[in-house]
Amino acid sequence: MNQYLMAVPGKRQISGDDKIFGINKAAHDMAAEVGSENVVNATIGALLDDEGTLMVMPSIIDIYRSLSPLEISEYAPIAGVPSFLKNVRTAVFGSHIPEGYTEAIATPGGTGAIRNTIQNYSSMGEAVLTTDWFWSPYKTISDELNRKIETFTMFDECKNLNIEAFESKVNTLLKKQSHLVILFNAPAHNPTGFTPEHHEWDALLDVVKKEAKDFEKKITLFIDAAYIDFAGDPDSSRAFFSKFSNLPENILVIVAFSMSKGYTLYGMRSGAMVCVTPKKAIAEEFRTVNMYSNRGTWSNGTRPAMMILSKIFEDPQLFRKVADERASFRSVLERRAAVFLDYAQKSSLEMCPYKSGFFMTIPCDHAEAVGKELQKDAIFIVPIGKGLRFAVSAVSEEKCRIVPEKIAAAIGKCK
Ligand SMILES: Cc1ncc(COP(=O)(O)O)c(C=O)c1O
Repeated sequence: MNQYLMAVPGKRQISGDDKIFGINKAAHDMAAEVGSENVVNATIGALLDDEGTLMVMPSIIDIYRSLSPLEISEYAPIAGVPSFLKNVRTAVFGSHIPEGYTEAIATPGGTGAIRNTIQNYSSMGEAVLTTDWFWSPYKTISDELNRKIETFTMFDECKNLNIEAFESKVNTLLKKQSHLVILFNAPAHNPTGFTPEHHEWDALLDVVKKEAKDFEKKITLFIDAAYIDFAGDPDSSRAFFSKFSNLPENILVIVAFSMSKGYTLYGMRSGAMVCVTPKKAIAEEFRTVNMYSNRGTWSNGTRPAMMILSKIFEDPQLFRKVADERASFRSVLERRAAVFLDYAQKSSLEMCPYKSGFFMTIPCDHAEAVGKELQKDAIFIVPIGKGLRFAVSAVSEEKCRIVPEKIAAAIGKCK
């Protein structure tokens, strides 16, 4: 926006239109003309069925319908409903609860956890660090809070996590500022689908531990686990959490939990932030400052969503039912991704290293032009600077078979 009427822009850079919604609208307009079966709409970050309808877990809706009026309507406590706070740790860590003190605070989705973390663990004007491929609201939230986003090159030439680049950036930033928030989206990273191997987690933690030898430095490692329930086997995908046991006191781990994808409650706006620290006082402080932030922003969270999570984790039969349904949803996603990757290889299409999750990234030059070129073929995909983001969560297996070759051709055309 270059002209403000009543609004005060502050230091923010507010652009009026949302690019993804714009491309999504163009896809819908074309579908209305030529039929949705002839359009590939790979813009949406939600799991859709082959006809393009949101996949909603019936077991979750059944639980919602079974809630009493009070369970739905009463205010939740500022920190969250106690049974939710007790069970959300299991929802996050599974059997891999790190040793140390953990506290949980309910937030409106993972988004709320990101906001509170930046607000409480970095100072105004400071930089927050993330990967060079990242979910764009990280920047919006930082901008809102008067922080800057700095990035490190996520992959090395072998497509592994670029630990050298990470170390260099952490080191540079900690020379300039004493607090550092690191936003790391894993497993099943948006937009690439990257999931670190165990040795990559170890290397990342080694860097952070090395920097934390200087006790003046305070590092918050924020693990954005929004897609964890779509990151393969629910137990092994959580094994890395054990690595957060017994870290130095000046490293605070905060894990963001989201009920949007894993419980198909996107519109309910529910999630949590869960901390891990070796020091009780830091866990207590976490609870105090984040409750304060909850009060000062959205007040309290969505009670029915918290009740749904509590009921699932307090009834083994219900837990099994939800887990089985989720596994069948996950297998839809996994089949689509396997097909896309297979055909991408056949078309020699370069990809960022995808393991799991809703999105894949195709690095390329002239992404905007390639995106436009693909639209001529009724393929709607999101250009994200250095590449294209393909929402495999939103595209049928049949379409995943035909798209890679067309993307390769469009990239060739736009060289
Ligand atoms: C990387 C990432 N983090 C966090 C979120 C937060 O989601 P929500 O606020 O709906 O829980 C999303 C949602 O798309 C995401 O892609």
